[in-house]
Amino acid sequence: MSVETKLKDVTVSTFLKKKENKEKITMLTAYDCSTAKYFDDAGVDSILVGDSLGMVVLGYESTHHVTMTEMQIFTAAVSRGAKRCLVVADMPFMSYHASIEEAVKNAGELIRAGASAVKLEGATDFILSVVKRCVESGIPVVGHLGFTPQYLNVLGGYKIQGKSAQNTKFILNQAKKLQEAGAFAVVLEMVPEESAKLITENLDVPTIGIGAGRYTDGQVLVADDILGKYSEFKPKFARRYSNLKDIISEAAKNYISDVTSAKFPDESEVFHLSEEEHSALKEIIK
Ligand code: KIV
Repeated sequence: MSVETKLKDVTVSTFLKKKENKEKITMLTAYDCSTAKYFDDAGVDSILVGDSLGMVVLGYESTHHVTMTEMQIFTAAVSRGAKRCLVVADMPFMSYHASIEEAVKNAGELIRAGASAVKLEGATDFILSVVKRCVESGIPVVGHLGFTPQYLNVLGGYKIQGKSAQNTKFILNQAKKLQEAGAFAVVLEMVPEESAKLITENLDVPTIGIGAGRYTDGQVLVADDILGKYSEFKPKFARRYSNLKDIISEAAKNYISDVTSAKFPDESEVFHLSEEEHSALKEIIK
């Protein structure tokens, strides 16, 4: 049996070309098929199936609770909706730390679920070996530096990273090592604009910023933040383009009101028996 794998319009090479041509790269998170389709049709370059889904979709307190099974299910849903853009799946907490073999196997499972690349956090020697082995195995990797949510407990909270010259130099070195290991892009989260600019200017691979200012090669935001759906908290760096929370609440309230006042369903929303069957029915139950 021959299985044809269609290459997406946006590939790893598109990312590198966009950096060369100084064109901004656009990335959004998505977690379900229909949202992925709308973002894809709108022309976004890449969709990240972020482990932020743990908080915004599953209601966990942090990304630490997200499992490989959950990532596989959401990655498959997004991949069915996104036909054109590059789908990147987050490797969840502890899915790439026990051994290189397990990490590569788990990365492969996310590719099998439909992703074209995986993203992982940090740049320790061990993580760099994982990146290298993934790339050698045919799995493109995006790095993630600066504020790395899976290290929340080690970092001691949601804190801006790279606030000193020394710390910026440290992040730049990490980014260079990721690039050397084969990562084709690096997400920079919550770092000062000046630091992100310097890191971006000193890398050949593109940087994708979130809370990292204006000079990264691309931007990524969480879907529920841009849509105004996640109401627990709005980060300073997120811009709202819609207010789905209010739209959804309003729709639900209108529905409740229509049902309780017998305005729903109306004539246009019901099925009817034919006159003949209706008469027969009346006869049967006489
Ligand atoms: O999980 C996620 O949504 C992310 C972005 C914040 C970059 O990693």
